[in-house]
Amino acid sequence: MSDIATATEKQGMDCLVIHGGRPLAGSVEVSGAKNAALPLMAATLLAPGEHVITRVPRLADTATMVRVLEALGAKVRWDATGMHVDTRSTSSVEAPYELVKTMRASIYVLGPLLARFGRARVSLPGGCAWGPRPVDLHIKGMEALGATIEIDEGYIVATAPQGNGAPGGLRGTRFDFPISSVGATGNLLMAAVLARGTSEITNVAIEPEITQLAEMLVAMGAQIEGIGTTHLTVEGVESLSPTSIEVIPDRIEAGTYLAAGAMTLGDVTVTRCRPAHLAATLQALERAGSRVTIDGSTVSLQSGGRPRGADLVTAVFPGFPTDMQAQMMAVATIADGTSTITDTIYHDRFAHAPELARMGADIRVDGNVAVVVGRDRLKGAPVMATDLRASAALVLAGLAAEGETRVSRIYHLDRGYEALAEKLAMLGAQVERRADTE
Ligand code: UD1
Repeated sequence: MSDIATATEKQGMDCLVIHGGRPLAGSVEVSGAKNAALPLMAATLLAPGEHVITRVPRLADTATMVRVLEALGAKVRWDATGMHVDTRSTSSVEAPYELVKTMRASIYVLGPLLARFGRARVSLPGGCAWGPRPVDLHIKGMEALGATIEIDEGYIVATAPQGNGAPGGLRGTRFDFPISSVGATGNLLMAAVLARGTSEITNVAIEPEITQLAEMLVAMGAQIEGIGTTHLTVEGVESLSPTSIEVIPDRIEAGTYLAAGAMTLGDVTVTRCRPAHLAATLQALERAGSRVTIDGSTVSLQSGGRPRGADLVTAVFPGFPTDMQAQMMAVATIADGTSTITDTIYHDRFAHAPELARMGADIRVDGNVAVVVGRDRLKGAPVMATDLRASAALVLAGLAAEGETRVSRIYHLDRGYEALAEKLAMLGAQVERRADTE
């Protein structure tokens, strides 16, 4: 087990104690994107050799993916330049339940294992805090490439037909996604690049994290056309080579710090980000009354005073991301006016609503719609969330609330925000990480 994983587990029960009510001001550098790093790490399995991935954020989730790769026999080390993944020694095709249950994105190894070795045994991830989150599209994609799938003792057991010349025995296919899925697109793409023949994959996800995965695969020698569009054409190749790549900046982390600026009536700048990836979030912040300026890879937000109520609907990229929904709901709780927030991606992703209500927010949830009536102010309270972005929303609320807010179970935050307490402190927040004694 890597050191970072052990340390993260030990600290997982810590809490954040926030003394709110002061405007945040200053500048923070955005980390590499968790949701980009995870599939890039899995993609290393496709080509034996040493890959270098830079700007991988130090998070519980990237540590979990390291453990998944190590369980498969890969050797992973971090140094000053980044993460080095050596996949020459890959010796197993099993991603165990103990790891997959802590991070659904472990399923990203399914496609690469099947494509390179013709076999994979990957635990089913199970449900999650905000609903069932099925993996049927990942499975259907592999079946379309010719794999046989069985479910055995909670594991997806995938077997490719042998003897067609492709390294793993998969064959090119046509696959039309019935709904857009980031993870299933990534998995199918990673499998198709080593299949024999052509794959036409339509209605694919075009989130920047998937575009970067496609770019990494091309750098490894894959033949993919249509990158950045919803229609990908993949010409299978016989082998791929190791590569080096820098993870794109985390658009959700950047958006979270900007929302913290809006929420605390502050003035926050995020550096080393890609503003084009943030467009929908920036528009939402502007609709809520903030002023946003972009200068190269730097985005600055100046609060225009108390936020304004504004409606919001989540959608696939380039629409407003579901991963920013909770944070913008926090902003809406103190807005002047009413905001209707609809999540069209996940229909039950409102775990933050009852916790925000404990701080004085007025939120009514009906199905996948939340109506938030803005209040003058929030009051600090002990709160706890059951998922990553919900926890982020509680931190934002705590930063704006009067008095003390204690956010417990911050292992959720450790999954997705690198050095959160330190970065908030750089913006002038009074925030302290403590061992949770309750
Ligand atoms: C990824 C992100 C997550 C983000 C989500 C939506 C990572 C590691 N996680 O998750 O932070 O919230 O995209 O932007 O990148 N679905 C099915 N069957 C499947 C797969 C998905 O029905 O086999 C459904 C889901 O339940 C959901 C929708 O498709 O309603 C979109 O999910 P998907 O894009 O697959 O999300 P993830 O890749 O799991």
